[in-house]
Amino acid sequence: MKISSSQMFRNLSKWSLKALALVVFAGAFSVNAQEADEASAESSINGEALFGSKCATCHHPLKDGTGPKLKGVKAAWAENSKIEGGIYNWINNWQNAAATDAYAAEVAAKKPTAMDKFPALTVPEMDAILAYVDAFEDDGDGPAGEEVCQVPVEEEGTSWVWYILGIVFVVIILAIGGVKRQLRVAAGEASEKEDREHSYADSFRGWAWRYKRYVMIGSVVIFISLIVTLFLRMYRIAVVEDYQPSQPIEFPHNVHAGINGIDCKYCHNSVTESRTAGLPTVNVCMNCHKQVTGESDEQKAKIAKIYAAAGWDAEKGVYTGKTKPIVWNKVHVLPDHVYFNHSQHVEVGGVDCIQCHGDMTTMCETAKVQPVSVLNAIEGNVKLTKPTLTMGWCIECHGEKEISTGAVNTNGSAYYEEIHKRLMLDKDLYNKYLEDGKVTVKELGGWECAKCHY
Ligand code: HEC
Ligand code: HEC
Ligand code: HEC
Ligand code: HEC
Ligand code: HEC
Ligand code: HEC
Repeated sequence: MKISSSQMFRNLSKWSLKALALVVFAGAFSVNAQEADEASAESSINGEALFGSKCATCHHPLKDGTGPKLKGVKAAWAENSKIEGGIYNWINNWQNAAATDAYAAEVAAKKPTAMDKFPALTVPEMDAILAYVDAFEDDGDGPAGEEVCQVPVEEEGTSWVWYILGIVFVVIILAIGGVKRQLRVAAGEASEKEDREHSYADSFRGWAWRYKRYVMIGSVVIFISLIVTLFLRMYRIAVVEDYQPSQPIEFPHNVHAGINGIDCKYCHNSVTESRTAGLPTVNVCMNCHKQVTGESDEQKAKIAKIYAAAGWDAEKGVYTGKTKPIVWNKVHVLPDHVYFNHSQHVEVGGVDCIQCHGDMTTMCETAKVQPVSVLNAIEGNVKLTKPTLTMGWCIECHGEKEISTGAVNTNGSAYYEEIHKRLMLDKDLYNKYLEDGKVTVKELGGWECAKCHY
C-alpha cells in the first residue's frame, strides 16, 4: 500500500497535535494533582490492625522493646492475677489496675517507662489484639517491634509528563524523517518528469507552504508547550519541599513526641509567645537523659553525644564543665525579607503544628520540610496546592482558612472581638466578606504585602 506524503503528514500532524495538546493539558494539571484519600473502613474487629495502630510502637509479640513481648501474657495474667479479667483492666488503665491488683503492680514495676492508657478499648477488641498476638509466628514479616516508623512516602507527580514529552518528541523526529523520505521520493518522481534541478530545500519550502495551516498550528502548539514547561520549571525554583539537612544528633521525633508523648512546647517553648518556636537547649535533653541512657548500643552512642555536649561524665555522674553546644541545622528557612510569626498562627489563629509541619509524632527521621501532598493527606488539614513555604502557600491558606469560628461574642479571643468591632463600622463591606459564609485571613488583611514583608 502506498500512502501519499500529504496524507501521511496529515495523519501524523493530527496525531502529534493531539499528543501535544494532551501534554500541555497534563502538564498544567499534574502540578495540582492530588491523590485521592484512601478510605479504609473497618467493619469487623481486626486484631492485627488494632495492634499495629495502638500497641506496636511499644510492643512486639515476640521481642521485648519499650514494652515487654506480649505473646502468652494473656495466659500469664489468667494464672497470676487474682482479679477476673485483670488484663483488660490493665490495658484500659494500667494505673488503676496497679492500685487494685497485686499482679498488675508487679508488672508495672518491671520497667521505668509507663504504658499508655486505652480506656476506649472494649473487651472484644482487646481479645482480638491478644488473639492476634498469641497466634503470631515469626515469619519475618510481622509488625516491626519498637521501630514502627510511618514516614509518608511522597509520590513523584510530574515525572510521567516528561516521559510523554520524550515520546512525543521522538514521534515528531520520526515523522519528520518519514516525511522527508517520502518527499525525496516524491521529488525524485517529479524531477524525472519536470525539473531535474529541483532542490530538496525548494521542495521542503513548497511542502511547508502547501500545508502552512498545519505547520503553523504545530509550531504554535510546540511554542506554547515550551512556555508552559518553562513556566512550570521556573515555578519550582526556590522550592524547598523535602529539604532535610543532616543533624549533629539523629534526633527522632517519634520516640519523644510520639511514643513518650512529650508535648511540643516542652522543647519548642516559645512557639505560643513569640515569632520563633525555638529549639531546646542541651539542658532540656539532660532533664531526661541523665537517667535515660539508652538500651541498644546504637541508642547509647547517640545519647553519648548529648553527654559530650552537656559536658556530663556518665560514669562518675558529674558535669566536667567542658561543654560543646549542639548546632542544629535549620530545616524550615524563609528568606530575610519575610516575616512569619508562630504565636500569631498557633495561639491567635489556632492553626495546629500538623498543618504546616506534618505529623511529627510519627517522624522517626530528623525533621524535614514536608511536601504539600503529604500535608494534604492528613485529615483535618486545610488542603493547599502550592509548595510548602512558598509565598503561594502562605497566600493560598490565608484565602482559604476561616478565622471567624466562635469569634463574635461566644468564645472568641479579645483579638477577634476588636476586629469585629472595626468591621462593624462598614457593614456593607462586612456583608461582602460574609458572602461565602466565612471570614478568611485574607479579608482581615492577610494578603497585604506589608504584613509579610519588611
Ligand atoms: C507507650 C508505650 C506502650 C504502648 C503504646 C502500649 N504499651 Fe503495653 N506496656 C508498655 C510497658 C512499658 C509495659 C511494661 C509495664 C510498665 O512498666 O508499665 C507494658 C505492659 C503491657 C502488658 C503487661 C505485660 C506483662 O508482661 O504482663 C500488656 C498486656 C500490655 N502492655 C498490653 C498492651 C496493649 C494491648 C497495647 C495496645 C492497645 C499496649 N500495651 C500499648 C508500654 C506500652
Ligand atoms: C524532646 C524535645 C522535642 C520535642 C518534644 C519536640 N521537638 Fe521538634 N525538635 C527538637 C529538636 C532537638 C529539633 C532539631 C533537630 C531536627 O531538626 O530534627 C527539632 C526540630 C523540629 C522542627 C524543625 C525545625 C527547623 O529547623 O525548621 C519542627 C518543625 C519541629 N521540631 C516540630 C515539632 C512538633 C510539631 C512537635 C510536637 C509534636 C515537636 N517538634 C516536639 C526537639 C523536640
Ligand atoms: C502556619 C504554619 C505553621 C504552623 C501552624 C507552625 N509552624 Fe513552625 N514553622 C513555620 C514556618 C514558615 C517556619 C520557618 C520560619 C522562619 O524561617 O522564619 C517554621 C519553623 C519552625 C521551627 C524552627 C525554629 C524556628 O522557630 O524558626 C520549629 C521548631 C517549629 N516551626 C515548630 C513548630 C511547632 C512546635 C508548631 C506547633 C505548636 C508549629 N511550628 C506550628 C510554619 C508553621
Ligand atoms: C521528657 C524526657 C526526654 C527529653 C526532654 C529528651 N528525651 Fe531523648 N529520649 C527519651 C526517652 C524516654 C527515650 C527512649 C529511650 C529508650 O527507648 O530506651 C529517648 C531516646 C533518645 C534518643 C535515642 C533514640 C533512638 O531510639 O534512636 C536520642 C538520640 C535522644 N533521645 C535525643 C534527645 C535529645 C537530643 C534531646 C534534647 C533535645 C532529648 N532526647 C530530650 C526521653 C527524653
Ligand atoms: C494553614 C494556613 C496558614 C498558612 C500556611 C500560613 N498562614 Fe499566616 N495566618 C493564618 C491564620 C489562620 C492567620 C490569622 C491569625 C490572626 O488572626 O492573626 C494568619 C495570620 C498571618 C499574619 C497576620 C495577618 C494579620 O492580618 O495580622 C501574617 C503576617 C501571616 N499570617 C504570615 C504568614 C506567612 C509569611 C506564611 C507563609 C510562610 C503564612 N502566614 C502561612 C493561616 C496560615
Ligand atoms: C502571607 C504572606 C505574604 C504576603 C501577603 C505577601 N508575600 Fe511575598 N513572599 C512571601 C514569602 C513566604 C516569600 C518567600 C517565598 C520563597 O522563599 O519561595 C515571598 C517572596 C516574595 C518575593 C520574592 C520572590 C520570591 O519568590 O522569592 C517578592 C518579590 C514578593 N514576595 C512580593 C510580594 C508582594 C508585591 C506582595 C503584595 C501583593 C506580597 N509579596 C505579599 C509571603 C508573602
